[in-house]
Amino acid sequence: MHKIIKKKKMAENTNIFEIHAPVVAKKAKSGQFVILRVDEKGERVPMTIVDFDRGRGTVTIVAQEIGKTTAQLGGLRAGDSIVDLVGPLGHPSEIMKFGTVVLIGGGTGIACIYPIARDMKKAGNKVISIIGARNKDLLFFRKEIKSFSSEFYVTTDDGSEGQKGFVSDVLKKIMSERKVDRVVTIGPVIMMKVVSDLTESSGVKTMVSLNPIMVDGTGMCGSCRVSVGGETKLACVDGPEFDGHEVDFSNLMLRNRMFCAEEKSSMERHVCVCGKRKKLTLGK
Ligand SMILES: Cc1cc2nc3c(=O)[nH]c(=O)nc-3n(C[C@H](O)[C@H](O)[C@H](O)COP(=O)(O)OP(=O)(O)OC[C@H]3O[C@@H](n4cnc5c(N)ncnc54)[C@H](O)[C@@H]3O)c2cc1C
Ligand code: FES
Repeated sequence: MHKIIKKKKMAENTNIFEIHAPVVAKKAKSGQFVILRVDEKGERVPMTIVDFDRGRGTVTIVAQEIGKTTAQLGGLRAGDSIVDLVGPLGHPSEIMKFGTVVLIGGGTGIACIYPIARDMKKAGNKVISIIGARNKDLLFFRKEIKSFSSEFYVTTDDGSEGQKGFVSDVLKKIMSERKVDRVVTIGPVIMMKVVSDLTESSGVKTMVSLNPIMVDGTGMCGSCRVSVGGETKLACVDGPEFDGHEVDFSNLMLRNRMFCAEEKSSMERHVCVCGKRKKLTLGK
C-alpha cells in the first residue's frame, strides 16, 4: 500500500498527489512514469513522475480526471492509500546541454514538462517554456515552470489568460526570430503532431512523450505499441519519448480510441466515493 501524503487541487478536475513510494523515489528521473492501481480490482493507469523526494521517499503525480480510474483517484484524500504503484518505468528524458531548448506543455502535459525544465536548466540550457490549455481554469504550475525558464509564455484557446490561440503559434514566432536547438512537447496527441509538423522543415529535433494505452508497462502485453520511423516500438520500454518527426500520430489516435465504448459505459456505471454520479467529459 502507498499512502497519499498530500493532495491539492491544481486546476479543474486536476489534482496533485504526493505519494509514499521510497523504492520508486530512489531511482526516479525526469521523463519516467509509474503505473498505479487505486484498489485491488483497479485498472492499471500510467502517470508521469512530476517530482520526487528521495529524502521523504515520495513521488509526485498530477492526475486529470477523464474516466473511471482517474475519477476514483481524484476522490481520494491525503491519508488514504492506493494499493500499488510500480516504477520508475520508461527511459528518462535526454538531458544535456543543447543550447536553446523550447519546452511545450498542453493540458496535463504542463505537469510533465516541469521536471524537464528544471533539469534542462540545470544542464546549462536556455529554457523557453510555453504552456497552453483551453482556458485559464485548466492552467497550473505557472510559477514553478517560470522559475526555470528564461522566457515563459501562456496561451489559451479562448484568450482567458495569456495569448489567445495555440502553443504552436508562439513556437512559430520564436522559430522565425532565432535559432532553436531542441524542442520537447508533451500533451494532447494532436498538439504534439502540430508541433512536430511545424519543426520538421527546419530539422529541429522534437521529442514527444507518447500516451498510448498501457497495461503491464514492462513490454510484455503489446498494448502500447506505436509506429515510429516505420518500426513498431513499445512506448513503455522503448519510450515514452520519441522523435516526433518519426511518429505515426494517426495510428496512435486511432489506437487510443479503441476502447471508447467500454470506457464510456465504465464511467457511467461508476459511482464516485462521495455517492454522486460524477459527470465527466471523456478526454477524446
Ligand atoms: C506514459 C504515460 C504517462 C501519463 N501521464 C499522465 C499524467 O501525468 N497525468 C494524467 O492525468 N494522465 C496521464 N496519462 C494518461 C492516463 O494514464 C489516462 O488518462 C488514464 O489511464 C485514464 O484512465 P481512466 O480510467 O480514468 O479513463 P478511461 O475512461 O479508461 O480512458 C480515457 C482515455 O484515457 C486513455 N487511457 C485509458 N486507459 C489507459 C491506460 N491504461 N494507459 C494509458 N492511457 C489510457 C485513453 O486514451 C482513453 O481514451 C499518461 C499516459 C501514459 C501512457
Ligand atoms: S504496456 Fe504492455 S507492452 Fe507496453
